[in-house]
Amino acid sequence: MPLHSSIVFRVLFLALSCLSAQTEAQLKVGFYSESCESAERIVNEEVTKGFMKDKGVAPGLVRMHFHDCFVRGCDGSILIDSTSTNTAEKDSFVNNPSLRGFEIIDNAKTRLETECKGVVSCADILAFAARDSVVITRGPVYDVPAGRRDGRVSLASEVLRDIPAPSMNVDQLTQSFANRNLTQEEMVTLSGAHTIGQSHCTSIINRLYNFNGTNGADPTLDSKYAGQLQQQCPQGSKDSSLVVPMNPGSPLVTDVGYYQDILANRSLFTSDQTLLTNSNTASEVNQNAMSQSLWMRKFAAAMVKMGQIDVLIGMSGEIRTNCRVIN
Ligand code: HEM
Ligand SMILES: *[C@@H]1O[C@H](CO)[C@@H](O)[C@H](O)[C@H]1NC(C)=O
Ligand SMILES: *[C@@H]1O[C@H](CO)[C@@H](O)[C@H](O)[C@H]1NC(C)=O
Ligand SMILES: *[C@@H]1O[C@H](CO)[C@@H](O)[C@H](O)[C@H]1NC(C)=O
Repeated sequence: MPLHSSIVFRVLFLALSCLSAQTEAQLKVGFYSESCESAERIVNEEVTKGFMKDKGVAPGLVRMHFHDCFVRGCDGSILIDSTSTNTAEKDSFVNNPSLRGFEIIDNAKTRLETECKGVVSCADILAFAARDSVVITRGPVYDVPAGRRDGRVSLASEVLRDIPAPSMNVDQLTQSFANRNLTQEEMVTLSGAHTIGQSHCTSIINRLYNFNGTNGADPTLDSKYAGQLQQQCPQGSKDSSLVVPMNPGSPLVTDVGYYQDILANRSLFTSDQTLLTNSNTASEVNQNAMSQSLWMRKFAAAMVKMGQIDVLIGMSGEIRTNCRVIN
């Protein structure tokens, strides 16, 4: 090849690789359409089957995808089991015992390994399963760009650092999401996931008794509701399995009930109620509470963006054979 054309080729190649480095979305909708045509259908069948048996798998899988993406990116690291030499993310107290739905991912993976061995990543299975969980609870329908690969590291110690705490105020939450390149508005939008599912009493007990050195409950919590929560979560109870619904009006429906709860001073966490203390976030809470269609559109877009955090693509990472174990 003449020198001249090889230089042209290289310059072109460099320009193209710069371009692709700039575009955020290296993932692709329909990524498995040729390599494993039934991938999304199989995940959907397993989510549906699991949901019939236990409605809790839907909120569980939405939260699991969030916890996967915020720690080391959406690389399926949340799915890895601890070993004798490593305590994995799922065994941080933040996730154990509250995180649920792992068996749905296992069931889908088992079928996919039979159908298309070594093709579909655990990280993608989780992203599809979270979407299917949103849809099965009547939330927005959206396409999931795929092509994530699985990580090989999962450390419990990173969970507390990277997953926002329910005691956080709006500035801390904004920072936590900014660390993942998500805006404050996306933070408010994604928090709307707290319209489904449940919380363990242990996650709200600090707001119910001796709040901040006072004798009673958090004064920003509606006092009648605080009384009900105190009955469901008795002080000093040793029962760590006690739970309360997130949005008691419709705990299984992905709607704007979460924002209506906040406006009624009936949200469970400081991290929810604090959204009224900042004029921008408060205005978004008000808008979302009033417009289901607006919030659904924003939520779908924000889930897609969250699903792209620090993904492994191309030849990085691996396609795990068993989602609980690195290859
Ligand atoms: C904004 C910061 C957030 C904080 C501080 C937070 C905190 C929490 C806490 C403490 C629980 C209760 C866990 C338990 O005790 O069982 C919970 C549950 C849940 N979270 Fe969040 N979360 C946040 C954002 C998100 C996001 C972005 C999503 C998803 C997009 C999400 C989805 C869920 C779901 C669906 C549940 C219910 C889980 C179940 O029923 O098993 N959360 N969250
Ligand atoms: C956030 O964006 C910056 C600049 O574009 C990039 O360097 C960084 O890797 C991104 N972080 C995440 C978690 O996506
Ligand atoms: C806790 O109490 C202190 C002093 O009484 C007060 O300055 C602070 O704002 C309170 N914090 C919350 C979260 O209410
Ligand atoms: C919510 O609490 C605030 C004070 O924290 C109060 O001004 C407001 O009226 C309460 N809203 C409702 C609906 O109870």
